[in-house]
Amino acid sequence: KKQEDKIIIPVKKISKKIKSKIKSKFPGSEFIKADFKKRDIKKTYKDILINKIDKKNLNCLPSSYDIIGDIIIIKIPETVKSYKKEIGNALLKTHKNINTVLEKSDIHKGEFRTQDLDHLAGEKKKETLYKENNAVFKLDVEKVYFSVRLASERKRIYKQVKPGENILVMFSGIAVYPIVISKNSNAESITAIEKNPAAQEYAEKNLKLNRTKNIKLYLGDVRDVIPELDKKFDRILMPLPKTGENFLDLALSVSKKGTIIHFYDFEHETEFDKGKQKVKEACKESGINCKIIDLVACGQYAPGKYRICIDFKII
Ligand SMILES: C[S@@+](CC[C@H](N)C(=O)[O-])C[C@H]1O[C@@H](n2cnc3c(N)ncnc32)[C@H](O)[C@@H]1O
Repeated sequence: KKQEDKIIIPVKKISKKIKSKIKSKFPGSEFIKADFKKRDIKKTYKDILINKIDKKNLNCLPSSYDIIGDIIIIKIPETVKSYKKEIGNALLKTHKNINTVLEKSDIHKGEFRTQDLDHLAGEKKKETLYKENNAVFKLDVEKVYFSVRLASERKRIYKQVKPGENILVMFSGIAVYPIVISKNSNAESITAIEKNPAAQEYAEKNLKLNRTKNIKLYLGDVRDVIPELDKKFDRILMPLPKTGENFLDLALSVSKKGTIIHFYDFEHETEFDKGKQKVKEACKESGINCKIIDLVACGQYAPGKYRICIDFKII
């Protein structure tokens, strides 16, 4: 704590030897007696479970979970599954703004990249309101894909957008990329395409919630919608890391000289170059020249495995 022109640093008992070492390193310092206010250390959900779960199993409790609006989504390891209700209730107790705790049993799957979620504690609901990057989103966490972990990646993208750009967001989900870009840049237009009708319904609601004026949504398969657009874009986003490479030809078909494409991919940390190779091969097959501008790792999804984004420019 600060006292007049001095800073007081708390130390417990220390030996004479250490005292003299500190004094010689910081001439002018002195040892005094002082009172410090006891600070409240926030209890974690694990603290609540200390007396309810044996020590061995306590160490198996997950340290991380996702918070989307007022919902917590947690994956519970097999070894502590029998305590799942206690875990849910402890999470509710230690997070004042959380109303619901859900358990995820699987990873995102299927064409719509959704996940099954079971109710663990609190209000029985799956819809929530989530805020990020000056925007707000309504979503059902089970019916649509959504990741809070990509908030800073979305910021990285909108920071690159120049005034007047025409942007295409393939695989747009609940319109998180289009809305975050619209709210934080001076893009001319944003075209968004999504196949999951539930995600598209939320996207429509989210456009209204955020009062955006420059986003046009299309419901359908990018393979059907893009050829009908009759438009070339300045920037194209491809946030479908699982099978995105199958759509590179399509993105390239609506690109022009100077277009920047953000291609997402999943790769092992030792094989990031494979992602670059996918881009180079697709460009070669389409007879297009490109220059890779950047490769960023934007989230780990398994030990050693990352979601990466390759930014490349058509030249
Ligand atoms: C990984 S999610 C990303 C969603 C959103 N961009 C986000 O970041 O929250 C991929 C999305 O692409 C959609 N999708 C998958 N294949 C598609 C296709 N062929 N045409 C249009 N959308 C597709 C899925 O339904 C899903 O919502």
